[in-house]
Amino acid sequence: MAIFKFDFIVVGSGAAGLLAAHKLAGTGRVAVITKRSPEISNTDLAQGGIAAVTAPGDNFDLHIADTLRTGAGLSDPRVVNLVISEAPARIRELVALGTRFSLRQGAYELGLEGGHSRRRILHAADATGHEIERALLETCKADRNITFFPFYSAVDLILKGRPARVRPKKNVCLGVYALEEATGRVHSFLAPAVVLASGGAGKVYRYTSNPDVTTGDGMAMAYRAGLRLVNMEFVQFHPTCLYHPQAKSFLISEALRGEGGILRGEGGKAFMKNYSRYRELAPRDIVARAIDSELKRTGADCVHLDMTRLKAAFLRKRFPTIYAKCLRLGIDITRDPIPVVPAAHFFCGGVRSDEHGRTALPGLYAIGEVAHTGLHGANRLASNSLLEACVFAHRAAEAAGRDRPGLPAAGKPARWTTGNARPSDEAVIMTHNWDEIRTLMWNYVGIVRSDKRLARASARMKVISEEIVKYYWDFLPTRDLLELRNIACLAGVIIRSARSRKESRGLHYTVDYPKPSAKFLRPTAVDRY
Ligand code: SIN
Repeated sequence: MAIFKFDFIVVGSGAAGLLAAHKLAGTGRVAVITKRSPEISNTDLAQGGIAAVTAPGDNFDLHIADTLRTGAGLSDPRVVNLVISEAPARIRELVALGTRFSLRQGAYELGLEGGHSRRRILHAADATGHEIERALLETCKADRNITFFPFYSAVDLILKGRPARVRPKKNVCLGVYALEEATGRVHSFLAPAVVLASGGAGKVYRYTSNPDVTTGDGMAMAYRAGLRLVNMEFVQFHPTCLYHPQAKSFLISEALRGEGGILRGEGGKAFMKNYSRYRELAPRDIVARAIDSELKRTGADCVHLDMTRLKAAFLRKRFPTIYAKCLRLGIDITRDPIPVVPAAHFFCGGVRSDEHGRTALPGLYAIGEVAHTGLHGANRLASNSLLEACVFAHRAAEAAGRDRPGLPAAGKPARWTTGNARPSDEAVIMTHNWDEIRTLMWNYVGIVRSDKRLARASARMKVISEEIVKYYWDFLPTRDLLELRNIACLAGVIIRSARSRKESRGLHYTVDYPKPSAKFLRPTAVDRY
């Protein structure tokens, strides 16, 4: 088991992690720990784009108002203000680092998505995340101060004091234990500053737009370290993922509805007019619930997104990735309505962090989807997440460079010990529990919730979690086991948060309390103790 010492450790290699690594590399040596090959990230799959005020006729106040309205009373106006006013600077920076956004007549071609009152979504056709990831990855790979550790899974934070005894504020984060997949060994990575940029937890749910790596590892590690997870009940379900047996996790971007796509249910009838005056461009929670309700009412497996009234040449140019993917599966989007269903997409909650990405644990920063900054509140405005990732990568990198310049990693270097653990002999426990958690979360803690469903989910999760904890300590860690432990931990946290919010607000909808209540106009916070 090796000990690696760096100035900064970044966990995760999406937009937040890579931009932070690039900036931190200006002041010290950076390790980027990532579970698979670095480009495998939620960022890489993001289609729609990044929201920013860049056009005449738009202004910060409008973008702020759209964000606050979508956040349903729980966004922090101060944070909304700072993110939106810093957006243009972060866009210029992405462009300087090589990102090529789509242009029309020399200006940015701007998309429209649900909840936005203006066209303000910068995009690279329909593969915006991939383009940002490409540019940042090329930048970071060329930097000699950055070392990538691909196929390393973060296991837990290394702390100075035991979290059961020392409150986070009095504790110190010394680094991260990480499992090297090739050898099965757990190494210690030590640094004065650790930046969690490990993304969300879509894999807690059976159906998700996220890649396989999104098992909420950073959120679960922070929780085990005694930190609070905030607003975890607010899970955003993207209304339109491709419904096809061979199309795992493929998103049909909201931008298609922005360009005039129509959702059709039974008998080809457009149904969104029955749910919102904004129809297809209502915020995502409303569109996802409308589809869910249509599916339950009619018993159908999917609804359809109809793009056929738009010009074929426009669709092929504006949505080349979606067009090509659907065509490979026998769906010509210029002629055929696209079968779609909702799927878990984004966590509005996460590790509480301040306006510089600092958490309550000295030495630990959280940025991107893993963090709860206060921007999204009870519901995220489309295309505000890549923006949040970039703004907080910048702010956290500045703070981490400032907070502990040149300090060596504090404390005794902690080594991982395996105790009496042995190689696993019953992997079926893992596959069984993995499937059960994801199915119960989908059925009982999904788009529409109820007290009864949440109680059932809670009782089941108690049994499953006990089994997993026992299994975890008896056997040597593998990536599958670490991921299972993390999704089980977060499923429990989501259920606890959802049970404590006895109202419906934003993404949290329960049939037992269908209206918002002033009593719950505050974030939910859950910790381990
Ligand atoms: C999409 O393209 O619909 C996803 C954009 C987002 O999640 O903000």
